[in-house]
Amino acid sequence: MKVFRLKKELQKQLSELKKDGKSIGFVPTMGALHQGHLALVEGALKDNDVTVVSIFVNPTQFDNPEDLKKYPRTFDTDVNLLHKLSDTILIFKPDSLDFYDGNVESQRFNFDGLELEMEGKHRPGHFDGVGTVVKKLFETVQPDRAYFGEKDFQQLQIIKKLVAKEKMPIEIVPIPIYRETDGLAMSSRNKRLQPVYRRAAPFIYQVLKQARLIFQNQTPEATKAFVTQSIAAHPFLELEYFEIADEKTLKPIKTKINSNKYRGFIVVYAGEVRLIDNIKL
Ligand code: PAJ
Repeated sequence: MKVFRLKKELQKQLSELKKDGKSIGFVPTMGALHQGHLALVEGALKDNDVTVVSIFVNPTQFDNPEDLKKYPRTFDTDVNLLHKLSDTILIFKPDSLDFYDGNVESQRFNFDGLELEMEGKHRPGHFDGVGTVVKKLFETVQPDRAYFGEKDFQQLQIIKKLVAKEKMPIEIVPIPIYRETDGLAMSSRNKRLQPVYRRAAPFIYQVLKQARLIFQNQTPEATKAFVTQSIAAHPFLELEYFEIADEKTLKPIKTKINSNKYRGFIVVYAGEVRLIDNIKL
Protein backbone atom coordinates (compact mmCIF):
# COMPACT_ATOMS: atom_id res chain seq x y z
CA MET A 1 0.00 0.00 0.00
CA LYS A 2 1.45 3.34 -0.97
CA VAL A 3 0.83 6.26 1.37
CA PHE A 4 1.53 9.78 0.10
CA ARG A 5 1.92 12.74 2.44
CA LEU A 6 2.90 15.49 0.01
CA LYS A 7 0.84 16.80 -2.91
CA LYS A 8 3.85 16.77 -5.25
CA GLU A 9 4.68 13.10 -4.55
CA LEU A 10 1.13 12.00 -5.27
CA GLN A 11 0.91 14.15 -8.39
CA LYS A 12 4.16 12.70 -9.74
CA GLN A 13 2.85 9.15 -9.38
CA LEU A 14 -0.55 10.04 -10.84
CA SER A 15 0.87 11.86 -13.85
CA GLU A 16 2.82 8.72 -14.78
CA LEU A 17 -0.33 6.61 -14.51
CA LYS A 18 -2.33 9.14 -16.53
CA LYS A 19 0.37 9.13 -19.23
CA ASP A 20 -0.28 5.38 -19.56
CA GLY A 21 -3.96 6.16 -20.13
CA LYS A 22 -5.15 4.92 -16.71
CA SER A 23 -8.46 6.26 -15.39
CA ILE A 24 -8.47 7.62 -11.84
CA GLY A 25 -11.25 7.15 -9.26
CA PHE A 26 -11.16 9.20 -6.07
CA VAL A 27 -12.78 8.75 -2.66
CA PRO A 28 -12.27 11.65 -0.23
CA THR A 29 -12.75 10.72 3.46
CA MET A 30 -11.87 11.85 6.95
CA GLY A 31 -10.86 8.31 7.95
CA ALA A 32 -12.23 6.14 10.79
CA LEU A 33 -13.39 4.04 7.87
CA HIS A 34 -16.46 1.82 8.02
CA GLN A 35 -18.50 -0.22 5.51
CA GLY A 36 -20.17 2.97 4.19
CA HIS A 37 -16.80 4.38 3.13
CA LEU A 38 -15.76 0.99 1.78
CA ALA A 39 -18.86 0.88 -0.45
CA LEU A 40 -17.56 4.09 -2.08
CA VAL A 41 -14.08 2.56 -2.47
CA GLU A 42 -15.58 -0.60 -4.01
CA GLY A 43 -17.45 1.59 -6.52
CA ALA A 44 -14.21 3.36 -7.42
CA LEU A 45 -12.28 0.09 -7.79
CA LYS A 46 -14.96 -1.30 -10.09
CA ASP A 47 -15.15 1.72 -12.43
CA ASN A 48 -11.49 2.85 -12.65
CA ASP A 49 -7.96 1.57 -13.32
CA VAL A 50 -6.55 3.36 -10.27
CA THR A 51 -8.24 4.30 -6.98
CA VAL A 52 -7.06 7.10 -4.69
CA VAL A 53 -8.48 7.38 -1.14
CA SER A 54 -7.72 10.50 0.88
CA ILE A 55 -7.79 10.44 4.67
CA PHE A 56 -7.76 13.91 6.19
CA VAL A 57 -9.67 15.28 9.18
CA ASN A 58 -10.16 18.69 7.60
CA PRO A 59 -10.15 21.32 10.37
CA THR A 60 -11.86 24.05 8.31
CA GLN A 61 -15.20 22.23 8.05
CA PHE A 62 -15.69 21.80 11.81
CA ASP A 63 -17.80 24.55 13.37
CA ASN A 64 -17.42 22.88 16.78
CA PRO A 65 -13.84 22.57 18.17
CA GLU A 66 -14.89 19.79 20.56
CA ASP A 67 -16.21 17.72 17.63
CA LEU A 68 -12.89 18.21 15.79
CA LYS A 69 -10.91 17.18 18.86
CA LYS A 70 -13.01 14.07 19.46
CA TYR A 71 -13.26 13.01 15.82
CA PRO A 72 -11.96 9.37 15.74
CA ARG A 73 -8.54 8.89 14.14
CA THR A 74 -7.72 5.26 13.33
CA PHE A 75 -5.18 5.44 10.52
CA ASP A 76 -3.55 1.98 10.92
CA THR A 77 -6.93 0.23 10.98
CA ASP A 78 -8.02 2.29 7.96
CA VAL A 79 -4.98 1.16 5.98
CA ASN A 80 -5.69 -2.49 6.87
CA LEU A 81 -9.34 -2.19 5.79
CA LEU A 82 -8.31 -0.69 2.46
CA HIS A 83 -5.60 -3.31 2.00
CA LYS A 84 -8.23 -6.05 2.34
CA LEU A 85 -10.13 -4.55 -0.62
CA SER A 86 -7.08 -4.09 -2.81
CA ASP A 87 -3.35 -3.58 -2.30
CA THR A 88 -3.22 -1.26 -5.30
CA ILE A 89 -5.11 1.63 -3.65
CA LEU A 90 -3.13 4.87 -3.37
CA ILE A 91 -3.67 6.50 0.02
CA PHE A 92 -3.30 10.25 0.34
CA LYS A 93 -2.86 11.41 3.95
CA PRO A 94 -2.06 15.06 3.43
CA ASP A 95 0.24 16.91 5.70
CA SER A 96 -1.88 19.92 6.70
CA LEU A 97 0.88 22.52 6.18
CA ASP A 98 1.88 21.18 2.78
CA PHE A 99 -1.74 20.71 1.70
CA TYR A 100 -2.92 24.19 2.60
CA ASP A 101 0.41 25.86 1.76
CA GLY A 102 0.38 27.28 5.29
CA ASN A 103 -2.96 29.05 4.73
CA VAL A 104 -5.74 27.15 6.48
CA GLU A 105 -8.42 29.71 5.59
CA SER A 106 -11.66 28.72 3.90
CA GLN A 107 -12.57 30.21 0.56
CA ARG A 108 -16.10 31.68 0.42
CA PHE A 109 -18.42 29.87 -1.99
CA ASN A 110 -21.71 30.59 -3.63
CA PHE A 111 -23.44 27.30 -4.38
CA ASP A 112 -26.60 29.03 -5.67
CA GLY A 113 -28.30 28.79 -2.29
CA LEU A 114 -27.68 25.06 -1.66
CA GLU A 115 -25.28 26.11 1.11
CA LEU A 116 -27.93 28.16 2.91
CA GLU A 117 -30.29 25.31 3.82
CA MET A 118 -30.19 22.73 6.65
CA GLU A 119 -26.53 21.95 7.46
CA GLY A 120 -25.61 25.39 6.13
CA LYS A 121 -27.90 27.02 8.71
CA HIS A 122 -26.87 24.82 11.60
CA ARG A 123 -23.12 24.60 10.94
CA PRO A 124 -21.88 28.05 9.96
CA GLY A 125 -18.88 27.91 7.61
CA HIS A 126 -19.18 24.14 7.20
CA PHE A 127 -19.73 24.12 3.44
CA ASP A 128 -17.05 26.75 2.81
CA GLY A 129 -14.69 24.34 4.61
CA VAL A 130 -15.92 21.34 2.61
CA GLY A 131 -15.78 23.30 -0.67
CA THR A 132 -12.25 24.50 0.05
CA VAL A 133 -10.83 21.09 0.89
CA VAL A 134 -12.64 19.18 -1.87
CA LYS A 135 -11.67 21.76 -4.53
CA LYS A 136 -8.03 21.50 -3.44
CA LEU A 137 -8.20 17.69 -3.37
CA PHE A 138 -9.74 17.66 -6.86
CA GLU A 139 -7.02 20.01 -8.15
CA THR A 140 -4.37 17.73 -6.66
CA VAL A 141 -5.76 14.36 -7.78
CA GLN A 142 -7.60 15.44 -10.97
CA PRO A 143 -9.68 12.27 -11.00
CA ASP A 144 -12.01 11.11 -13.76
CA ARG A 145 -14.63 10.14 -11.18
CA ALA A 146 -15.18 10.97 -7.51
CA TYR A 147 -17.47 9.07 -5.13
CA PHE A 148 -19.73 10.64 -2.51
CA GLY A 149 -22.30 9.08 -0.16
CA GLU A 150 -25.99 9.96 -0.14
CA LYS A 151 -25.69 9.91 3.64
CA ASP A 152 -24.47 13.51 3.33
CA PHE A 153 -26.97 14.33 0.61
CA GLN A 154 -26.59 18.11 0.86
CA GLN A 155 -22.81 17.74 0.59
CA LEU A 156 -23.26 15.53 -2.50
CA GLN A 157 -25.43 18.16 -4.23
CA ILE A 158 -22.96 20.90 -3.28
CA ILE A 159 -20.03 18.96 -4.75
CA LYS A 160 -21.98 18.49 -7.99
CA LYS A 161 -22.52 22.26 -8.02
CA LEU A 162 -18.82 22.88 -7.26
CA VAL A 163 -17.58 20.89 -10.27
CA ALA A 164 -20.20 22.51 -12.53
CA LYS A 165 -19.29 26.04 -11.40
CA GLU A 166 -15.53 25.45 -11.49
CA LYS A 167 -15.90 23.59 -14.82
CA MET A 168 -13.96 20.60 -13.52
CA PRO A 169 -14.22 17.56 -15.82
CA ILE A 170 -15.02 15.14 -12.98
CA GLU A 171 -17.99 12.77 -12.84
CA ILE A 172 -19.56 12.77 -9.37
CA VAL A 173 -20.87 9.29 -8.54
CA PRO A 174 -23.46 9.01 -5.73
CA ILE A 175 -23.48 5.91 -3.50
CA PRO A 176 -26.58 4.90 -1.44
CA ILE A 177 -26.57 5.08 2.36
CA TYR A 178 -25.00 2.03 3.98
CA ARG A 179 -26.71 1.01 7.23
CA GLU A 180 -26.05 -1.23 10.23
CA THR A 181 -28.40 -4.25 10.35
CA ASP A 182 -30.56 -2.35 12.86
CA GLY A 183 -30.97 0.54 10.40
CA LEU A 184 -28.57 3.08 11.90
CA ALA A 185 -26.72 4.89 9.10
CA MET A 186 -23.03 4.05 9.39
CA SER A 187 -20.93 6.97 10.56
CA SER A 188 -17.47 7.47 12.02
CA ARG A 189 -19.18 9.29 14.88
CA ASN A 190 -21.13 6.12 15.84
CA LYS A 191 -17.94 4.95 17.56
CA ARG A 192 -18.45 7.73 20.10
CA LEU A 193 -21.97 6.61 21.13
CA GLN A 194 -22.27 5.37 24.71
CA PRO A 195 -24.23 2.03 24.84
CA VAL A 196 -27.53 3.60 25.90
CA TYR A 197 -27.38 6.05 22.98
CA ARG A 198 -26.20 3.38 20.56
CA ARG A 199 -29.31 1.35 21.47
CA ALA A 200 -31.51 4.42 20.98
CA ALA A 201 -30.05 5.56 17.65
CA PRO A 202 -31.78 3.03 15.28
CA PHE A 203 -35.06 4.73 16.25
CA ILE A 204 -34.09 7.56 13.88
CA TYR A 205 -34.39 5.37 10.78
CA GLN A 206 -37.60 3.75 12.09
CA VAL A 207 -39.15 7.22 12.33
CA LEU A 208 -37.88 8.14 8.86
CA LYS A 209 -39.47 5.02 7.37
CA GLN A 210 -42.80 5.81 9.07
CA ALA A 211 -42.53 9.40 7.82
CA ARG A 212 -42.15 8.08 4.27
CA LEU A 213 -45.46 6.22 4.63
CA ILE A 214 -47.25 9.21 6.15
CA PHE A 215 -45.95 11.52 3.43
CA GLN A 216 -47.71 9.39 0.78
CA ASN A 217 -51.13 10.64 1.79
CA GLN A 218 -50.57 13.52 4.19
CA THR A 219 -49.12 17.01 3.97
CA PRO A 220 -45.43 17.87 4.52
CA GLU A 221 -46.53 19.74 7.65
CA ALA A 222 -48.32 16.70 9.13
CA THR A 223 -45.31 14.51 8.31
CA LYS A 224 -42.98 16.98 10.03
CA ALA A 225 -45.24 17.09 13.09
CA PHE A 226 -45.14 13.29 13.29
CA VAL A 227 -41.33 13.23 13.24
CA THR A 228 -40.99 16.08 15.73
CA GLN A 229 -43.38 14.43 18.19
CA SER A 230 -41.86 10.96 17.82
CA ILE A 231 -38.31 12.14 18.55
CA ALA A 232 -39.49 14.47 21.35
CA ALA A 233 -41.12 11.47 23.06
CA HIS A 234 -37.86 9.52 23.06
CA PRO A 235 -35.91 9.83 26.32
CA PHE A 236 -32.40 9.64 24.79
CA LEU A 237 -32.75 11.52 21.51
CA GLU A 238 -33.02 15.21 20.77
CA LEU A 239 -34.11 16.60 17.41
CA GLU A 240 -32.04 19.41 15.88
CA TYR A 241 -34.10 19.57 12.67
CA PHE A 242 -36.27 17.61 10.30
CA GLU A 243 -36.95 19.10 6.87
CA ILE A 244 -38.75 17.85 3.81
CA ALA A 245 -36.99 19.37 0.84
CA ASP A 246 -36.76 19.18 -2.92
CA GLU A 247 -33.80 16.97 -3.92
CA LYS A 248 -32.50 19.46 -6.47
CA THR A 249 -32.91 22.84 -4.76
CA LEU A 250 -32.86 21.53 -1.14
CA LYS A 251 -35.53 24.12 -0.39
CA PRO A 252 -38.08 23.01 2.21
CA ILE A 253 -41.52 22.44 0.72
CA LYS A 254 -44.99 23.45 1.86
CA THR A 255 -46.96 21.54 -0.77
CA LYS A 256 -46.21 18.52 -2.92
CA ILE A 257 -45.89 18.58 -6.70
CA ASN A 258 -46.09 14.95 -7.75
CA SER A 259 -43.45 15.13 -10.48
CA ASN A 260 -40.79 16.46 -8.07
CA LYS A 261 -38.44 14.35 -5.97
CA TYR A 262 -38.35 14.90 -2.23
CA ARG A 263 -36.28 13.75 0.71
CA GLY A 264 -36.65 13.94 4.45
CA PHE A 265 -33.50 15.24 6.16
CA ILE A 266 -32.88 14.75 9.85
CA VAL A 267 -30.29 15.63 12.48
CA VAL A 268 -30.57 14.18 15.96
CA TYR A 269 -28.37 14.42 19.02
CA ALA A 270 -27.82 11.13 20.86
CA GLY A 271 -26.11 12.46 23.97
CA GLU A 272 -23.36 14.70 22.67
CA VAL A 273 -23.04 12.91 19.32
CA ARG A 274 -24.66 14.58 16.32
CA LEU A 275 -26.22 12.05 13.91
CA ILE A 276 -27.35 12.85 10.37
CA ASP A 277 -29.60 10.80 8.11
CA ASN A 278 -32.05 11.18 5.25
CA ILE A 279 -34.64 9.21 3.30
CA LYS A 280 -36.10 9.38 -0.20
CA LEU A 281 -39.81 10.10 0.15
P1 PAJ B 1 -16.54 11.47 5.78
O1 PAJ B 1 -17.57 11.82 6.78
O2 PAJ B 1 -15.37 10.64 6.19
O3 PAJ B 1 -17.26 10.76 4.58
C1 PAJ B 1 -16.56 10.41 3.41
C2 PAJ B 1 -17.58 9.95 2.38
O4 PAJ B 1 -18.21 8.76 2.83
C3 PAJ B 1 -18.69 11.00 2.14
O5 PAJ B 1 -18.98 11.07 0.75
C4 PAJ B 1 -19.85 10.41 2.91
O6 PAJ B 1 -21.12 10.80 2.42
C5 PAJ B 1 -19.61 8.92 2.72
N1 PAJ B 1 -20.31 8.13 3.74
C6 PAJ B 1 -20.17 8.23 5.09
N2 PAJ B 1 -21.01 7.38 5.72
C7 PAJ B 1 -21.68 6.73 4.75
C8 PAJ B 1 -22.70 5.71 4.73
N3 PAJ B 1 -23.18 5.20 5.87
N4 PAJ B 1 -23.16 5.29 3.55
C9 PAJ B 1 -22.69 5.81 2.38
N5 PAJ B 1 -21.75 6.76 2.32
C10 PAJ B 1 -21.25 7.21 3.48
O7 PAJ B 1 -17.81 13.64 4.14
C11 PAJ B 1 -16.65 13.80 4.52
O8 PAJ B 1 -15.92 12.81 5.15
C12 PAJ B 1 -15.91 15.10 4.32
O9 PAJ B 1 -16.82 16.17 4.34
C13 PAJ B 1 -15.06 15.14 3.03
C14 PAJ B 1 -15.93 15.02 1.77
C15 PAJ B 1 -14.00 14.03 3.03
C16 PAJ B 1 -14.32 16.50 2.95
O10 PAJ B 1 -13.49 16.68 4.05
